[in-house]
Amino acid sequence: MSNDRTGPQSGKLWGGRFKDKTDPGVERFSASVHFDKALARYDIRGSIAHARMLGHTGLIPEADAKIIVQGLERVATEIEIGEFPFDAGLEDIHMNVEARLHEQIGPVAGRLHTGRSRNDQVATDLALYLRDACLASRHGLLQLRQVLAARAEEHLDTVLPGYTHLQRAQPVRLAHHWLAFVEVLGRDAARFADAASRLTHCPLGAGALAGSTLPLDRAQTARELEFVAATRNSMDTVSSRDHALEVMAAAAICMVNLSRLAEELVIWSSAEFGFVELADAYSTGSSLMPQKKNPDVPELVRGKSGRAIGNLVSLLTTMKGLPLTYNRDMQEDKEPLFDSMSTLRDSLEVMSGAIATLRVGTERMAAAAADPMLLATDLAEVLVRQGVPFREAHEAVGRIVAHCVETGVALDSLSKKALQQFDPAFPEAAKKLLDLERSFEQRSLVGGTARATVQLALEAVRAELDAEAAKLEV
Ligand code: ARG
Repeated sequence: MSNDRTGPQSGKLWGGRFKDKTDPGVERFSASVHFDKALARYDIRGSIAHARMLGHTGLIPEADAKIIVQGLERVATEIEIGEFPFDAGLEDIHMNVEARLHEQIGPVAGRLHTGRSRNDQVATDLALYLRDACLASRHGLLQLRQVLAARAEEHLDTVLPGYTHLQRAQPVRLAHHWLAFVEVLGRDAARFADAASRLTHCPLGAGALAGSTLPLDRAQTARELEFVAATRNSMDTVSSRDHALEVMAAAAICMVNLSRLAEELVIWSSAEFGFVELADAYSTGSSLMPQKKNPDVPELVRGKSGRAIGNLVSLLTTMKGLPLTYNRDMQEDKEPLFDSMSTLRDSLEVMSGAIATLRVGTERMAAAAADPMLLATDLAEVLVRQGVPFREAHEAVGRIVAHCVETGVALDSLSKKALQQFDPAFPEAAKKLLDLERSFEQRSLVGGTARATVQLALEAVRAELDAEAAKLEV
């Protein structure tokens, strides 16, 4: 083998079989480099592993492999410092890197694509990107969960009404309320970890669709790129995007969860609720109304959840009719994927900041939680303890509530005598039938809102977050 060959004669790396130039409109239409340059790092990492393997197996001279690797490292630096001359005429990031490599090291660059197609190349880039994206999402989720747990700890004794149908239902601790989101976001993190556990096999060597006639060492490239092994089926490898889909699904679910948390911050920061006040750093003003302090940050998180949902549906739709194996439609995977992941990353970051810095209106919460009607269920359960069937107890307390509403008497100011007129089973012995403190303390079942129970939950959460931090090495 010698190095005196000149390389491709036409402008395109695939130009050999073409006589005429590509229509400029088609060039623009099919170019992807303006977005897939986000894969540059991964593309070059994959190429370096591939070149080393080619050298190692003797498929190309070791010396050429070295020159290629050094050239690729130089190209990587150019991209990093923003000096890479991206050219839409070269379609995508893969061709841009290879063409630049050719400019830097000459015809030796032509050996890099030995035994490789852009189809297994892009699948490799995506797998590496997705692994990082899963990790980054777990980092962002860990941070937000840590913030929520810290604020929960601070507000163990802050009480507020829990709601169903956005109607006051039963009193809960704010710690319990925020720990609910820690659970939700923990499942989100688990979804990313789970998706990453299916990104363990290396696409390189699958070629265009049917592997290669050349004796590549797929195990070596897999090892170098920190995969467990090479993929088992070349056709699956180049034609599947379900890895991207499941990461995007995890992102969409997570954004929907963040949207619900955001929605509460929006409602809670209204004058009607007054449960929280967002810090100035996480609020914006009105250009017209000088008194306004708007919760734009949570509103935008709520709004951006639409993107994550749309992006997922977009790629699902792109994929649904495609025959095996690679089809160019699949180039449409990248913009929605990148958008979902950056939207999620930013949303997690601003939500962490907003929650870490918001002021809690403990008095407003306590005042709302002091509504004695919130203890109506407890009153029914007093009767149940006396052996009254729950349905009858519910009925009796329902009549008591109606009486209170009609007469304007507070539920907790009814005498025992008055209560017994609705149901004689109300016990004589008990000092006070309705008491907020006792109501809390009685909710000590696992998962409940009693102080000691929430404290235990908080400890478990802390241990879980520490374990996740250790795994993520933060
Ligand atoms: N830019 C292409 C994509 O993202 C790379 C693969 C192109 N392969 C091909 N045979 N045209 O899908």
